[in-house]
Amino acid sequence: MHRIINEGSIQLKIPKAEKISKEMGVFYNPIMGLNRDISILLLNSLNKKNMQICDLLAASGVRSIRFLKELNKNKIKKIIINDYDKKSIRLIKYNLKLNDIHSKNDKKIIIRNKDANFLLLSSAGFDYIDIDPFGTPNPFLDAACKRIARNGILAVTATDTSALCGTFPKVCLRKYWAIPKKNALMHETGLRILIRKIQLIGAQYEKALVPIFSYSKEHYMRVFFRNEKGKNNADNVIRLHGFFNDAGPMWLGKLFDKKLSRSIYESALRNKIFKSNKELLNFLHIIKEESKINSVGFYDISDICSKYKIKIIPKKFKIIEKIRKLGYGASETHFKGEGLRSNIPINTLINIIKQHKNK
Ligand SMILES: C[S@@+](CC[C@H](N)C(=O)[O-])C[C@H]1O[C@@H](n2cnc3c(N)ncnc32)[C@H](O)[C@@H]1O
Repeated sequence: MHRIINEGSIQLKIPKAEKISKEMGVFYNPIMGLNRDISILLLNSLNKKNMQICDLLAASGVRSIRFLKELNKNKIKKIIINDYDKKSIRLIKYNLKLNDIHSKNDKKIIIRNKDANFLLLSSAGFDYIDIDPFGTPNPFLDAACKRIARNGILAVTATDTSALCGTFPKVCLRKYWAIPKKNALMHETGLRILIRKIQLIGAQYEKALVPIFSYSKEHYMRVFFRNEKGKNNADNVIRLHGFFNDAGPMWLGKLFDKKLSRSIYESALRNKIFKSNKELLNFLHIIKEESKINSVGFYDISDICSKYKIKIIPKKFKIIEKIRKLGYGASETHFKGEGLRSNIPINTLINIIKQHKNK
């Protein structure tokens, strides 16, 4: 049993299912619409044309079909839409036609029914590889790192956040070679652990995977890396691995490129599909502001108040205003509602919070 839904500018036939799970025939999760929105905005914001794109684990084909419909005209030279499941391939073909895309007559669209690693390793490489798996991306990282082109973009989703965020520390150690920590910062810690793991795989092949946009949302984490080739670049990436508050090792460098974060937000504001999507705009706005501040970790105002026995928790925006007046950077963080990203020293922040209470 199937039904037709809309996502972005496209229509899609998907299986009717009581629950979103691996068992639904062909997988489709509407919550991941935002993951796909951001992929489109990011690729449209980058100065890249004629890309060879690999949608490695395509399921219903939703991502590729949206790329074909929503990426700017000159972006795609070739797009491979792959899944090892035959049911997926049938649905991908149906969904292409549903959206008036006639893949048989269009040489740039190639549908493949291969194991992902076989597909990657038997290819000459790609400018964009999207890994969107069930759970961990681990099985696909080695081949993807080998086949990502110079200056190419590697996009990775991980949905095994309970390991990365510290519910299962042994699993994290085994799969991501690092110690997580379950506390207010766990989503940022987990994302940084994931980034470092992928960078280590890249470094083996003298590829420096530099995060240009990364985030944690709902049940998943997502990172876009630019592959800057070369031994020195790879060494420089590894130099930024280390510990933070006894979790790690993890990536201690930037999570977002500031210019790109601004450009993604601004193109969402201008885009007729995205400009009325408040959730997306709000999320991108927070990241745009967050990307201006270079810090590992953030402050949690309610944690500080409880630790220092401050009874009245001040409003986050008031504190942000005060920090900025003192000349420090400050913003919300997408990682946590009560969080505050700032480069202000903790003691100065505590004073601000205490003074605020006294007014
Ligand atoms: C989470 S779904 C992908 C969702 C899709 N990217 C989207 O945006 O809706 C994962 C897909 O990977 C496929 N898959 C899993 N392991 C694979 C492998 N080794 N090779 C090829 N496809 C694989 C599954 O059949 C499934 O359709």
